[in-house]
Amino acid sequence: STVPVVLGVESSCDETGFGIVSDGVLLGQGLASSASQHAEFGGVVPEIAARAHLEAAVPTLRIALHDAGVELRDITHVAATSGPGLATAVHVGLAAAKSVAWSLGVPLYGVHHLAGHAAADTLEHGPLPAQSIILIVSGGHTSILHVKDLVADPIEHLGDTLDDAAGEAFDKVSRLLGLGYPGGPAISKAAVGGDPEAFSFPRAMLRPGDQPYVFSFSGLKTAVARTVESLERAGEEVPVADIAASFEQAVVDVLVTKALRAIEEKGLDTLVIVGGVAANQRLRAVAQERCDAAGVELRIPPIRLCTDNGAMIAAVGDLLVRGGASPSGLQIAADPSAVL
Ligand code: KG4
Ligand code: ZN
Repeated sequence: STVPVVLGVESSCDETGFGIVSDGVLLGQGLASSASQHAEFGGVVPEIAARAHLEAAVPTLRIALHDAGVELRDITHVAATSGPGLATAVHVGLAAAKSVAWSLGVPLYGVHHLAGHAAADTLEHGPLPAQSIILIVSGGHTSILHVKDLVADPIEHLGDTLDDAAGEAFDKVSRLLGLGYPGGPAISKAAVGGDPEAFSFPRAMLRPGDQPYVFSFSGLKTAVARTVESLERAGEEVPVADIAASFEQAVVDVLVTKALRAIEEKGLDTLVIVGGVAANQRLRAVAQERCDAAGVELRIPPIRLCTDNGAMIAAVGDLLVRGGASPSGLQIAADPSAVL
């Protein structure tokens, strides 16, 4: 039999992604984003995202095929994000994936978006070790997972956020600082040269007795809002760089502390950080420093594989195919609130 050539389709939020993976290797990808169309609304507008996916789908698939140097007929399997995500947005990518799978007569696999984020790292650093801790930090999720086999074993979900996701905190704080959407890159840019110790914003859920792997970021957002308000009320200039840097430091401190706690308690030596917030330079630097000190191997994919993309969905599809999983079939429905 021939080597599988897996097409992955991602459309859960504002990124339209197609990626092609064969035997664990990324052959090529295409990516379009409607982020700029949501900027004036301060967040993703589902109907706008869905329309943008519809317009971008075919051209972006063409780019992926061209980038990979393969023809559409070379695709042996199709994988698509079936959830979680914005329902209308997921529907467009899933419908595109069904069309391709049906027209080629090849199997279709529904993929959990978070499994995709986790698998993204394998495209850069190869197969995951026998066991690892994966910290997923995106616009919708903040999760610590204990992973053995990404597609075969049930994944042990150690903890999530009680309220805002880490990326959502970046987006909300960016909005209240007037820095725009998406907030992560905007805050990072604003934080350059800022003093991360200028403001000591709260680190929630780090006290003894707090649930060890559970996060909460809404209080941090409120603390930033109050700081800005009181400075404005006092007629003082708002030191945006210092606030942005101190906010980043507070988020990063909690994320890395909890991830390393999981590593220690499970007796593991590999930490993988994925998802849009893993693009954050302060997170990457602090995690590296603390992992080095603890003798832990840190794996973070390059930035283009941290944020949403089709390659990571193809990576899961490829693992499913090689693991002998049964396809989902063409009748698969979107599952906008899928749990891992
Ligand atoms: O994984 P992703 O592309 O989409 C979701 O599945 O949510 O993550 C998007 C999130 C957004 O909240 C965005 O503000 C955040 O990732 N993000 C960042 C950075 N780049 C993107 N957060 C912090 N620093 C960044 N450099
Ligand atoms: Zn994502």
